[in-house]
Amino acid sequence: MAEARPFQLEARGVSVVLGGVRALDGLDLVLEPGLRTVVLGPNGAGKSVLLRTLHGLIAPAAGTVSWSRPVRQAMVFQRPVMLRRSALANLRYALAVNGVAEPERTSRATAALARVGLERIADRPARVLSGGEQQRLALARAWALRPEILFLDEPTASLDPGATAEVERVIASIAAEGTRIVMTTHNLGQARRLADEIVFIHAGRAAERTAADRFFDQPASNEARLFLQGELPWK
Ligand SMILES: Nc1ncnc2c1ncn2[C@@H]1O[C@H](COP(=O)(O)OP(=O)(O)O)[C@@H](O)[C@H]1O
Ligand SMILES: [Mg+2]
Repeated sequence: MAEARPFQLEARGVSVVLGGVRALDGLDLVLEPGLRTVVLGPNGAGKSVLLRTLHGLIAPAAGTVSWSRPVRQAMVFQRPVMLRRSALANLRYALAVNGVAEPERTSRATAALARVGLERIADRPARVLSGGEQQRLALARAWALRPEILFLDEPTASLDPGATAEVERVIASIAAEGTRIVMTTHNLGQARRLADEIVFIHAGRAAERTAADRFFDQPASNEARLFLQGELPWK
């Protein structure tokens, strides 16, 4: 993979209203190059809406999302949607939609399956794969697009510990190759393992952005302190 050119992503005063609900409320956030960011916060805080907004899937009602340069980006959702086709065909389809021609389409799809350890099940229907395999397939599909930044929304939410560990390994190695990672999780152990920095979201705003090695012992905001003590529950 080519050496990553640095870029910065900046959200200023971003408000998002969905179905009459103010999901983001004047959120400010700067994402600097080269870090793995984990977004934490109670249920309904606005984590998923934030990722979708940064990725350009939701238009803010107010405020701006700006990139320091054009950046190739991809997103993996909590419950990835796969076509009723083989694992390999799902990857080939995503590449075709993104304008990748043959023979590169097949070689990239094959490499991506190998990347996540799924080369043996290339011909199996994607929808019969286990939850962990489907999530790795979703990671392969995103990685095949060579994103410079990868948004991951609760990528291990419904997985058992073994499958979770495998997905974490893939995420860590994608990050090590230079892809900027921005992810959410409910798993605080996972946040400790994968994050360089924590962005803590509360009530549609970024309450703090703190180095991960500091956040868990010395969060800057009162909201995060209560959250870590379990006093700000998942709702
Ligand atoms: N499509 C939608 N329509 C109405 N409200 C929504 C929609 N999506 C999200 N919300 C609301 O926006 C807020 C933030 O949601 P979300 O970002 O999903 O929270 P979380 O931090 O749990 O990921 C919540 O109050 C949620 O109910
Ligand atoms: Mg969410």
